[in-house]
Amino acid sequence: MAHSVNARPLSSERSSALSGTISVPGDKSISHRSLIFGALAKGTTTIRGLLQSEDVLATARAMQAFGSVISSQTNENDETRWSVSGMGTGGLLEPDQVLDFGNAGTGSRLVMGLAGVHNFATTFIGDASLSSRPMARVLDPLRKMGAQVMARTGDRLPLTIMGTRTAVPITYRVPMPSAQVKSCVLLAGLNTGGVTTVIEPIKTRDHTENMLRGFGADFEEKTGDDGERILKIAGLCRLTAQHIQVPGDPSSAAFPIVAALLVPGSEITLKNILLNETRTGLIKTLLEMGADITILNETVSGGEPIGDICVKHSELHGVEVPADRAPSMIDEYPVLAVAAAFAKGETIMHGLQELRVKESDRLAAVAAGLKANGIDHTEGNASLTVRGSKSVPGGGMVSTHMDHRIAMSFLCLGFASDRPVTVDDGNVIASSFPEFETLMTNLGATLVEAEVSAE
Ligand code: S3P
Repeated sequence: MAHSVNARPLSSERSSALSGTISVPGDKSISHRSLIFGALAKGTTTIRGLLQSEDVLATARAMQAFGSVISSQTNENDETRWSVSGMGTGGLLEPDQVLDFGNAGTGSRLVMGLAGVHNFATTFIGDASLSSRPMARVLDPLRKMGAQVMARTGDRLPLTIMGTRTAVPITYRVPMPSAQVKSCVLLAGLNTGGVTTVIEPIKTRDHTENMLRGFGADFEEKTGDDGERILKIAGLCRLTAQHIQVPGDPSSAAFPIVAALLVPGSEITLKNILLNETRTGLIKTLLEMGADITILNETVSGGEPIGDICVKHSELHGVEVPADRAPSMIDEYPVLAVAAAFAKGETIMHGLQELRVKESDRLAAVAAGLKANGIDHTEGNASLTVRGSKSVPGGGMVSTHMDHRIAMSFLCLGFASDRPVTVDDGNVIASSFPEFETLMTNLGATLVEAEVSAE
């Protein structure tokens, strides 16, 4: 896939010990949901710690297009508080413009759940990466509820959803482990008379459920006979505005954590990171690999567990990562593959089929990046084996395929490899972690703008 129009190649170099205490930006999943729920509630929701990245700002603009008034104020301590005026469940207005979600799968798929149950037309567009991603996974249940869809072959963006006035409540068994699909149907259920049921055989991140409870929805969770989760939302209920503090994103924290493990002599602390068990699979895996990671100051904030994470440079060894851990670390496999490149022995990762449909085909993009940097590995259909070594050649040029996590993962590789690593476009990082370069540089890592080769 092409990179962005103004690609900015970026290189990372072998760095001296990383040290310091940092806060990473707010959690992306919770940020999208805070804006969406704020726009559906009665009253004004305030959000502190919102991730101000391109993906999340696209969701803010979408909710504005539906009629919500959204503004932000920054105080003398540089803390920004966002305010979102709620329209009430079912109160969204027809957007007078197309909704451009850029690179954002989560924003687009969750907002489709709203568009499907409002009686007007909403058009979704996105960048080349988002336009290549499958949307049938959310459009299929919305069609069952009564929405009509005009889309390219294969249900890809750009597409228009003609929402229904009289949505039908459904019982939907989520066919793949996907929090986006689950959340889309639950959000659609909010403006549907009767009870919409989502059956989730494998638990994925549960921030939508936590927010439904927090905003006062008529929501119930049970466990089925086979251990599956049965989620029931009674539609047309009233949501009440909340004050939200968004915790640090563990999926962004993953990059400095792995960088500190790999660069000799490093010792860093990350403050107030979300520790919801549906998101901590990477930490669990790194601990099994022998990482020196300690969690301090554990507490609960806004219904979510948070804590500080202290990381020291460690000699890692390979492990086998079971398929059932994938949902709790689905976005962290690229950076785990980088950690595995420096670990003694083999790291085998199973259950990676969903990586094929992320911002890029992440399994293929990771394998290509490992190859470009001289790392022994085997790519399976839904698995990856990395054979690590203490000394990693590096020196490769990595295609990001418009994927922020591919860019950041391979830049982390370059902090500890023999030769620098270059990614073809550093701009893509702004989707989720605009502060990445500043924070990593402040910790002591070396990042340099790379020469653009004349082709
Ligand atoms: C997300 C769910 C996951 C994850 C994405 C964020 C969410 O996607 O990869 O970055 O906030 O619901 P899937 O639902 O496709 O697994």
